[in-house]
Amino acid sequence: MMSFNRCFLSLIIAWHATPFPPSRLEIINAADCVLGCNCFRIGNRLTVKCDHDLPNLLPEGTSAVCVNDLYTKHLLPDQFSDHAWKNLTELRLQSWKTEFIDESSFFTFLNLEYLKISFDSLSTLPPGCFSPLQRLRVLDLSGNGHLTFDDVTKALSFPGVLPNLEEIYLDKLQTYRDPAKLYEPFFSALASKPIRRMSLSGANFNSFCLQSFIPLGIKLEVLNISDISFASMNFIDLVSKNMFVTLPSNFFSSLQVMDISYAKLPGYLLLTNPRNQVWEYDCASPLYQAQHMIANGISPFEIRHENVVFVTRNCRKKLLKKLEARHNNLVWLDAYFSRDLFSFREVDLSYNRIQYINPNLTAHFSQIVHFDVSHNELHRMETAPEFKEFFSFNTVLEYVDLSFNGFTKLPEMFFQNATSLIVLKLSGNKFDCIDFQLETLARLQYLDISLNNIMHIGGVTQMNLQSLFGHQIFSSKNGTEERLRVNMDWNHLVCSCENLESLYWLMLNKFYFEHIDRYTCSFKEKSEPLDSNTLDIVHSYCAQGSIVLTTIVTGLALILSTYYLVYRISSLCDAYRNQKAAHNFVNRYRSGEIQGKFITFLSYASVDRDFVLQLVYQQLKQKLAERLGADDNLICHHEEHFFPGYPIAKEAEKYIMNESLTVLLVVSDAYCESIFCQHEAKLAEYSNKPVILMLREQVDVSKMSPELSALFSRYTRVKWVNVNGEYIMKPDWDTLCDSIFMLAEEYLQKNTKIIASCNR
Ligand SMILES: *[C@@H]1O[C@H](CO)[C@@H](O)[C@H](O)[C@H]1NC(C)=O
Ligand SMILES: *[C@@H]1O[C@H](CO)[C@@H](O)[C@H](O)[C@H]1NC(C)=O
Ligand SMILES: *[C@@H]1O[C@H](CO)[C@@H](O)[C@H](O)[C@H]1NC(C)=O
Ligand SMILES: *[C@@H]1O[C@H](CO)[C@@H](O)[C@H](O)[C@H]1NC(C)=O
Ligand SMILES: *[C@@H]1O[C@H](CO)[C@@H](O)[C@H](O)[C@H]1NC(C)=O
Repeated sequence: MMSFNRCFLSLIIAWHATPFPPSRLEIINAADCVLGCNCFRIGNRLTVKCDHDLPNLLPEGTSAVCVNDLYTKHLLPDQFSDHAWKNLTELRLQSWKTEFIDESSFFTFLNLEYLKISFDSLSTLPPGCFSPLQRLRVLDLSGNGHLTFDDVTKALSFPGVLPNLEEIYLDKLQTYRDPAKLYEPFFSALASKPIRRMSLSGANFNSFCLQSFIPLGIKLEVLNISDISFASMNFIDLVSKNMFVTLPSNFFSSLQVMDISYAKLPGYLLLTNPRNQVWEYDCASPLYQAQHMIANGISPFEIRHENVVFVTRNCRKKLLKKLEARHNNLVWLDAYFSRDLFSFREVDLSYNRIQYINPNLTAHFSQIVHFDVSHNELHRMETAPEFKEFFSFNTVLEYVDLSFNGFTKLPEMFFQNATSLIVLKLSGNKFDCIDFQLETLARLQYLDISLNNIMHIGGVTQMNLQSLFGHQIFSSKNGTEERLRVNMDWNHLVCSCENLESLYWLMLNKFYFEHIDRYTCSFKEKSEPLDSNTLDIVHSYCAQGSIVLTTIVTGLALILSTYYLVYRISSLCDAYRNQKAAHNFVNRYRSGEIQGKFITFLSYASVDRDFVLQLVYQQLKQKLAERLGADDNLICHHEEHFFPGYPIAKEAEKYIMNESLTVLLVVSDAYCESIFCQHEAKLAEYSNKPVILMLREQVDVSKMSPELSALFSRYTRVKWVNVNGEYIMKPDWDTLCDSIFMLAEEYLQKNTKIIASCNR
């Protein structure tokens, strides 16, 4: 069953690799197929897949046949007598029993382009057996453990054989026999064919000589010598210091991919423990010609570079773009290149044991886009002063994976210059708080902070995540909003009273959190689903013994309540304290202690401009000035304060998030529909700014954005009512001012606390 699936899967994969337009897989009715086989159609390709037996007849128009676990001992041409075999372009046969192929077995396949034979018991190949296959492009003889390179060489040397062969796969060939000799006739036989891909992985060689690749080298695009081993350590060619000197300079000049993973190379070819050395790295060397080098698992030894400088030569031309070096026991990389390696785009050093990377190394990969150092031990670098420079200069980075490195903390400005980041993975570390800034990552679309220790979402974590949400409107290129997703799963969140406010915040922003419906939090030592039901239970648990909220509202004649009022009951339950807060604020303001901030930011829709200017702005400004004894910079008003020429949304962000203490939203139906106004409401909400809602009229709640309706349902508000054609505000201006002062004072106090709370 397993091999059935594999066969079928590989077919599907092969199809997808072909340039046909992707289309639906159609499973043909058993009655229309060969008895005992399955038929599938993708696009206009019909595939017949059978077990054990070759089908006698094929449905009209069959283009591919795949037979698994073939029972036939001797493959003879009369088994392919049906005329439909002639049209076949693809044949895959796998067997443990087939021992013989005839010289004329493939006689009928004049149109075949792809042939795979994997016969465990096949002991020899008749030299002329491939000669009818004039159109064959891909020959896959992998897994024929008894077949030798000699047999293959003879078949490939047959006059006029396989003139169109582009790809040859000889993985795990000759594994049941003596070690292979990969000698010159093999390459000469291939030299006359347009070979682009060659795979020799898993073979055991007795001799392996780079020079013999010369006839092929110029044409090869993909060379796979992964998992090769050498029977003896007698590598005259490899050892020679001059081994590359004798190679022509255009050797491997077309090479795009080279896979040497798990190759058992002699130890002296690996730079294991250089120290205080200058290495010359000649980019022109034929071995560095591949654009994509895959070298996973080649070093069984620990690799430590201490104070090593690679002096590069001839690195201007086409060069390595992508390097994979997983599972290599890299431990210490205190090394760097003498100059920029512009070519590097992708580097994967995951699954090593790296404890140190000199930031100068990454700095010289100045065009690197994709950097994966997950599954290492880079937390050991946390205390190194140069750690903060790790990503200082990599401004084009789009993908960074630092997962599973045991980090507890990253420098505050660690990602400041990585402004192109789209994916940032920090999963599986030990962060208990996100205290590094993310706000410059305006293009970020995926942040993975799952599997950390964020039990409490503190103010700093909240602030840093919010700074990302603020960018979201801008991240779209063509008008569609590209949504940021944050994965915070598996962080052992705690549903405690002190965490409650943050959890409400989390629910409010659930739009951004991936799989939030499966998050849990522990409450009274039990794991509960994180939903509004649980939060309500926690809320009432925390509120027990506190003064009931309504008394504050009536007691103070307060027309608004806020986030803090609702959820920080204990700290705000004292009406006296609130009055005192307003009083305090006025005193501090008058004594000059609070400077450089607007008291409130005025947000309204442009169609409400006349109303706002006539009825709100002037009177509020006058009242605030009276109370505070100052008359400028009280209300931030875009017409007065935004810099001309800057994007409005960006300016709003700056003034709401950084320059104002509270935000006053003048809400009307037009406000609810305006994208800019919604954005301003969002900014206020996300930056935890105290919000005062002023309703110009009855507002249609269904038109509100989720943020606005959350604000609306939560906070009480200032209302304008029309009495005999005259607009009257309820409550009066003094009460409104009191509330603004109190909220501003609360905000200032809370903010100093936030800044202090994550400083470990
Ligand atoms: C083989 O292909 C030709 C041309 O594409 C077609 O006319 C013919 O019907 C096919 N024969 C079979 C048996 O499928
Ligand atoms: C090289 O061959 C191995 C074994 O067949 C395979 O797993 C690997 O994907 C191949 N590499 C490339 C680049 O195709
Ligand atoms: C990185 O390079 C700069 C300039 O060459 C040098 O001053 C600094 O010490 C290097 N940093 C490390 C950690 O080696
Ligand atoms: C970001 O880049 C600027 C300019 O190159 C540099 O001065 C600053 O130190 C960098 N920031 C960080 C955190 O590396
Ligand atoms: C915008 O781009 C995305 C991907 O880049 C694409 O999927 C989407 O269809 C595009 N939308 C429009 C309206 O062109």
